[in-house]
Amino acid sequence: MSSELLSSSVRRNTKMYIAGVVLLGLAVVVIAIANKDSSSGEKTAKYETTNNRSVDLLDGKWNYLPGATERKDGVRITHTGLQIVQQDGSGGQLNSPVNLYGTHLKFVGDFVLDASISDLRGTASLQLYGNPPVVQDEFRVEPASVRLDFTSSKLNVSVWDGKATGNLADQQPVSTQSFTIGPANTIRLELIHKNGSLELSVNDRRLGVVSEHEAFSTGRMWFGADTLAPGNTWRLSKLQAEPLGKGVVRTVDTSESAAKTTRDANGLQTLAGRKRPGFLIGSAMALVPAVSDDKYARIAFGGNFGSMTIENALKFQFVHPRPDLYTFDEADALVDLARSHHMKVHGHALVFGEANPTWVQQLPVATAADKKDVQDVMTSHITKVVEHFEGRVSSWDVVNEPMADYDDTEDGEGSTLREHLWKKALGADYIALAFRTAHRADPSAKLYLNDYGLEADGDRWDALIALVTQLKRDRVPIDGVGFESHVYEAGDKIDPAVLRQHIRQLADLGLKARISEMDVYSDDGTDVQAEQYASVLAVCISEPSCVSFSTWGFDDDYNMWQDDDHSLQHGKDFLWTTGATPTPAVFKLQQLLRE
Ligand code: XIL
Repeated sequence: MSSELLSSSVRRNTKMYIAGVVLLGLAVVVIAIANKDSSSGEKTAKYETTNNRSVDLLDGKWNYLPGATERKDGVRITHTGLQIVQQDGSGGQLNSPVNLYGTHLKFVGDFVLDASISDLRGTASLQLYGNPPVVQDEFRVEPASVRLDFTSSKLNVSVWDGKATGNLADQQPVSTQSFTIGPANTIRLELIHKNGSLELSVNDRRLGVVSEHEAFSTGRMWFGADTLAPGNTWRLSKLQAEPLGKGVVRTVDTSESAAKTTRDANGLQTLAGRKRPGFLIGSAMALVPAVSDDKYARIAFGGNFGSMTIENALKFQFVHPRPDLYTFDEADALVDLARSHHMKVHGHALVFGEANPTWVQQLPVATAADKKDVQDVMTSHITKVVEHFEGRVSSWDVVNEPMADYDDTEDGEGSTLREHLWKKALGADYIALAFRTAHRADPSAKLYLNDYGLEADGDRWDALIALVTQLKRDRVPIDGVGFESHVYEAGDKIDPAVLRQHIRQLADLGLKARISEMDVYSDDGTDVQAEQYASVLAVCISEPSCVSFSTWGFDDDYNMWQDDDHSLQHGKDFLWTTGATPTPAVFKLQQLLRE
């Protein structure tokens, strides 16, 4: 372990990584001893390797990589079909799995990466990233990376620059190259990372420099693996990194490092727990920043939040990409992380008109048989997902955003039910059926209906109250209603008195309330923003039936969406702004919670 690498990592992450560094240090020593005789003389001469402190990345953790199975002889990769669709059902951006909660490489200087692909059937895709991709539910920001797509006789190399300029719905690599290889169903790869460029050899044939951009200036290499079609499989049977010259390599296991943080005595949850025991402060969270961004992890797991809402990883297209496949890995990792920090988990969302994979969006609804199929898809999805997390996810958004968008109804208030697949096939009864199915799958989980625009008076609220009154009358097992509380512009501002009255109206029906997704625009200044956040928390924490206050993200570095023209937009709506700086809202919430 070079002192340069060790000291920089300790400086940056003293508390988080110290145990991990010690363990990894030991692992490197053990591997170095085990590999003592393995570096051939030829290699030493060819690449000027001055030591053989190579690391075997397959020794690490790969079992949270969607589509992957750890085996004695490597990692078996199967097709996931993970894709991200646009809200209108178009698109289908590849969302190839990345080993996020497990092993990646940290390095200084130059190194050689040796990989073998065995038992190739169909296609094998290996992608190397400097940073893992930030995933939203209509796109992922393709980071700087190099992607290798193999068949037994062909290799396509795509290089991404990570700039995400232009159309997010149609991000393209900056270069692609094709090579004829093989034919062989075992492929040996050698990637030489030297002086910032990446040079590739396949089966001992040098193909040349494939990338000279800054993909790996992060000093990290993250690994993704996939196949391009159902039925395709392959095995990653070797993945080793060997330093060149003064280079240093080591493996990082994020499932170890992300689990370690210290709690801030002024953390929002710490304070809230004192003011009202049992009351939860939460936020939507995603796995990529939780494992790759120390400052995100420090805020997420440092005493600010007692509840984690799974931001996108449990939406249908992420967790059930093919009729016969559930990819629980990322949500499992988030749930593990939450539980290791004594946080409750809120599952989002079982039945929703958005974020459905293409195979669901294309289900026909014309005949009685079609309708029965849609019903089976909905109920089996709910059952499988809720059972999988039984006892680990304590509450669910069972039905998300059942009310129509404002523009889609005559009164402009979105006061009728949304016309999506589930409603079209099953009528309004889909709602009761969804709750009954979820309750059967985990009778102890708290079940919510979640929507936006419920904080104001008007036709939308009246329709919502009529809906939940009927559900209660029909003895549907619904526990409460989530008020999303998005404040995207001045017109969305929440009147605390009206919110309080709505919470009480629900309480009269025997229903709980939760503030489920609050975020507040900052164009009118951070004081206005702080006042909105604080007045809503003040109402919720003072109403016994309002059980939690959750935000839709907390770190503005991840506050992004795509505009109508599909360009990437960044917002400043969250509690911590760029660079993990607390906004005035954080201090205002702390003050309120101390009173
Ligand atoms: C958001 C996602 O976080 C974004 O990635 C996506 O681009 C838009 O939708 N109400 C909800 C959430 O219930 O699922 C939405 O999530 C935010 C609004």
